Amino acid sequence: MTRTNVAELLSSDKFLQEVTLKGWVRTFRANRFIALNDGSTINNIQCVVDFENTDESVLKRITTGAAVSVKGILIESQGKGQSVEIKVSEIEILGDSNPEEYPIQPKKHSFEFLRENAHLRIRTNTFSAVMRLRSALSFAVHKYFTENGFYNFHAPIITGSDAEGAGEMFNVSTLDPENLPKTEEGTVDRSKDFFGKETNLTVSGQLEAETYAMALGKVYTFGPTFRAENSNTTRHLSEFWMIEPEVAFNNLDDNMDLSEDFIKSVISYVLENCKDDLAFLDNRLTQEDKTKPTIERNEMSLLEKLNFVVDNNFKRVSYTEAIDILRNCKPNKKKKFQYIINEWGADLQSEHERYLVEKHFKCPVILFDYPANIKAFYMRLNDDGKTVRAMDVLFPGIGEIVGGSQREERLDVLMQKIKELDIDEKELWWYLDTRKFGTAVHSGFGLGFERLVQFTTGMGNIRDVIPYPRTPQNAEF
Ligand code: 4AD
Ligand code: MG
Repeated sequence: MTRTNVAELLSSDKFLQEVTLKGWVRTFRANRFIALNDGSTINNIQCVVDFENTDESVLKRITTGAAVSVKGILIESQGKGQSVEIKVSEIEILGDSNPEEYPIQPKKHSFEFLRENAHLRIRTNTFSAVMRLRSALSFAVHKYFTENGFYNFHAPIITGSDAEGAGEMFNVSTLDPENLPKTEEGTVDRSKDFFGKETNLTVSGQLEAETYAMALGKVYTFGPTFRAENSNTTRHLSEFWMIEPEVAFNNLDDNMDLSEDFIKSVISYVLENCKDDLAFLDNRLTQEDKTKPTIERNEMSLLEKLNFVVDNNFKRVSYTEAIDILRNCKPNKKKKFQYIINEWGADLQSEHERYLVEKHFKCPVILFDYPANIKAFYMRLNDDGKTVRAMDVLFPGIGEIVGGSQREERLDVLMQKIKELDIDEKELWWYLDTRKFGTAVHSGFGLGFERLVQFTTGMGNIRDVIPYPRTPQNAEF
């Protein structure tokens, strides 16, 4: 038996044909009208039950959440709000859902409640729209890179190196914590561990991607990334997905061009291909805004914001210019920032990034040429000897969405930096080989996939754009 999905039926004009569809009951009203959803679209299809000729016992089992199989004919709808409906001739209950126990009732639930029921929240309109968009964005990422001559590269997930040098890593070990083998010096003997050395979950696939870019030219990774930082914010996860392109012979300007073109392309893709879900989320955000005080409301609707990003150039600003703007801005002078910007060299916090994007420039901003000592070891040193060819793309409502750089391709300069930072060069022998054999200018960046999904869906909390969020003290499901 073939089944037709709801998305197809809703745009069909094959009236009076018999169809079979399967899905879950969203609502059942007046013992007659089932709103049926099967995940293929945000929209439900109305199935009209002939209640006079249906068993009372069956009618009772048509409850919110139940799985049903419906046979009937497609007709033009009599009621308002939909163009077609199904006149049901046969209905079978595939799986009951006890209304006394089912947590997802047809009413507004808080996102906190739904997070605790993350295995069922996907049955709501909001989460199904978000996760369909997440899937479409993921496809758009692979499409963009494939069409632009990139190779997809799978970076290892277990690694011995700390790419970002921040030390916020999850240890991977099979040693018995109750009975750790010790060296003569009394430290844990990792030579007895599974890999014979200390290993961690990767914080970035960049270093390995660089080795591949130096042979395949243009590569990208799109994989899970792990950070053991204790940040309980609406923008941090302990497990997130990162997209990292790396391109041989690209300098920082090329890298900025690539990041801008890439982001615009994937957002255009969903604007074109996910209209129903975006319309729903646009309306959701507008309604949510109405409950907020005027100054906290968004100046643009979700769709306006997405179109704005696609249609306008990102503003490119050096770190030095940004510091001048921040030092002299009102919130800094009136000490409204939590971290006051006094001098050149300060690390920018999310409040500063958002001021630049949301208040000052009012468009996406690419900041570049940061002080060397607040950035990672692999970034290319400028001739001034104090800044590096770093870039961060900053987005309204999100802050940093991309971090990247031109890489230090000169072996002597890189070695000098590694010594200064006291990095174990023995661990990086393979990385340093790329600088010894056929080194060349190259650049890349990392885009946090969940931050992109957050921006595209207008969701306020990053925990609501990944199926099962991992954050400090939380790894349920
Ligand atoms: O700026 P980051 O740390 O850069 C890197 O890891 C580089 N190795 C990337 C590269 O050049 N290939 O991280 C890149 C992006 C950030 O801009 C942010 O969007 C995201 O990854 N990100 C996180 N997203 C969610 N939760 C976290 N804890 C994140 N940390 C970084
Ligand atoms: Mg960064």
